[in-house]
Amino acid sequence: MTKQELLTQISNDIREHTCSLRAGCTQAVPGDGNPDSDIVFIGEGPGRDEDIQGEPFVGRAGQLLTKIIEAMGLKRSTVYIANIAKCRPPENRAPLPDEAATCIPFLHQQIETIKPKVIVCLGSVAFQYLLETDQKISAMRGQWQEFRGIKVMPTYHPAFLLRNPDAKRPVWEDMKKVRDLLQKT
Ligand code: URA
Repeated sequence: MTKQELLTQISNDIREHTCSLRAGCTQAVPGDGNPDSDIVFIGEGPGRDEDIQGEPFVGRAGQLLTKIIEAMGLKRSTVYIANIAKCRPPENRAPLPDEAATCIPFLHQQIETIKPKVIVCLGSVAFQYLLETDQKISAMRGQWQEFRGIKVMPTYHPAFLLRNPDAKRPVWEDMKKVRDLLQKT
């Protein structure tokens, strides 16, 4: 099977999966993008717009993420974007540990299929659940981490940047490190 076929199968499995979050949302949002991408961006979970459209990062935070990707010299269509939670949590709250534990095997399968060179964790939820840590994003952003042999760059979530524009500078510093690594390898 090709990577695209495997990812389609994982997306179908996600859509067919039933869990406590699935009951309260419009549809699952499996993830989207280029199966051969060197880079995977991981967010927290679908918000209102993503829940309606079935695509990750299509609301205001998503528009800012698209700008960040383009500032790195990439096109959004050439990267892969996914979330920890595949279904929208009520009131946009962060996924609870048992909810994240239900969803995260799907994300692991997506990462194993794509085999990117770099994962960017957007915000503390993505960082803490992927790396199974309770370290703070403010302390860890900008510092290379590793997940199953893949380099991980934790940085702030674009929704946080919308509320705190001063944090755009450090995110840009983090993304330059990612861009430089991708150019070298
Ligand atoms: N925020 C996220 O973490 N993920 C999305 O898909 C949209 C907003």
